[in-house]
Amino acid sequence: MTFWPKDKTDAEAFRASPEEFKSCFRLWPTGVSVVTTRDGEGRAYGVTMNSVTSVSLEPPLLLMCLRNDSETLAALRASGIFCVNFLASGQEEISNRFAHRRPDKFQGITTHDGRLGAPVLEGVLAALECRVEEVYPGGDHQIVLGELVHGTRHNPDAPPLVYFNGQYSRPKP
Ligand SMILES: Cc1cc2nc3c(=O)[nH]c(=O)nc-3n(C[C@H](O)[C@H](O)[C@H](O)COP(=O)(O)O)c2cc1C
Repeated sequence: MTFWPKDKTDAEAFRASPEEFKSCFRLWPTGVSVVTTRDGEGRAYGVTMNSVTSVSLEPPLLLMCLRNDSETLAALRASGIFCVNFLASGQEEISNRFAHRRPDKFQGITTHDGRLGAPVLEGVLAALECRVEEVYPGGDHQIVLGELVHGTRHNPDAPPLVYFNGQYSRPKP
């Protein structure tokens, strides 16, 4: 019995389209984070991310997937550090701002530097400061594996910002 065509050409013919992929993943609810970092010169970068997942407890590892052409990815590779800021409900504007390429992403946003130097955003549920352990290729994204160096709960009782079906929502308490 054959479950899968053996030669690659056939496999490509059976591949789902990006639309099919996206239309299914729209139905997967996630939290929303802003991943921050600095480049080799100390300039701050940040990007809205929902592809953040815990991987291992000992050692404490997490992963996230960043577009190959992301400016934040290039900066993170240079500095070797990043911080995952878990957004609270009410921080939709911050999420939208960091989801677009623009030079003034941090203007008017209150932050402080975490222990590793990446910006920690005010009002987030938690900030997970990591060092880059490994970066693996994953199609049009790179899979960044990070080791948690320092995790802080800032606003643990606030409801999280949730992304579902292309929209933000707030879970009922
Ligand atoms: C809710 C939400 C989640 C997102 N998650 C990701 C993600 O996991 N990985 C990614 O590469 N882009 C993700 N994006 C898109 C990036 O935020 C967007 O491409 C951003 O402009 C990249 O910025 P940069 O090129 O300056 O790094 C997401 C956008 C939104 C609104």
